[in-house]
Amino acid sequence: MRKSYGSFQALKQIDLEIEQGEIYGLIGPNGAGKTTTLRILCTLLKPDSGSVKIFGYDLTSQADEIRKLISYLPEDAGAYKELTGIDYLKFIARFFAKDEKHFHQMVEKGVQISGLSDRLKTKVSTYSKGMTRRLLIARALMIDPKLAVLDEPTSGLDVLNAREVRNTIKEFTKNGGTVLLSSHNMLEVEFLCDRISLINSGRIVKTGAPQDLKKEFNASNIEEVFTEVIRCSGTC
Ligand SMILES: Nc1ncnc2c1ncn2[C@@H]1O[C@H](COP(=O)(O)OP(=O)(O)O)[C@@H](O)[C@H]1O
Ligand SMILES: [Mg+2]
Repeated sequence: MRKSYGSFQALKQIDLEIEQGEIYGLIGPNGAGKTTTLRILCTLLKPDSGSVKIFGYDLTSQADEIRKLISYLPEDAGAYKELTGIDYLKFIARFFAKDEKHFHQMVEKGVQISGLSDRLKTKVSTYSKGMTRRLLIARALMIDPKLAVLDEPTSGLDVLNAREVRNTIKEFTKNGGTVLLSSHNMLEVEFLCDRISLINSGRIVKTGAPQDLKKEFNASNIEEVFTEVIRCSGTC
């Protein structure tokens, strides 16, 4: 698919296929087109051309069906600051729960995923960036989407918070969920993603399992793979 903002072509060639139950990472530097791609897949932006299918549904003609299956965590999302964490989770669960029992299960799940325990009783305005991110991830995953689209889930988090978030994401796929995430942190994705696509200047330049890519380029990490792919593009 392709996408331009005015005369600027943000996405030149993006082709990807995600399999059920995997953690798929879109990896690349700032400005590569990760957020634009994710926003298109979540039906928030329309591609200029190309076709996208998610779980068999066509993105342009069946957007409503797709929205029911996807949960999206935007890059710069905030939560309602005047609510407590627990009230925020309840507020969201009200929209998605089928009945009262389901509502309580959902909230309980959100509480667990957030890992915020007693701090859920305090207002979101008092949370650190890491705590807010964890609350938002809980919100995105507690509704049990078929596909969770997480834009830079660990960006700006300290080591411990980032590790917790990665574990949470892994746990989610163990229970059958599928994850598409973006990251500009090429080192963390090795431990997190089953498969990755390296994206640069609006193009996917390489796709594969992190281990296979490292082998192919005889590299010790994905940062080296990326550097090598860019160096080679057009010449090798
Ligand atoms: N609304 C917009 N209007 C114009 N240009 C945009 C807009 N959103 C993103 N861009 C540009 O498109 C390119 C890709 O952006 P983005 O998808 O946010 O990249 P990433 O998430 O990989 O950092 C960047 O050059 C960015 O400046
Ligand atoms: Mg982005």
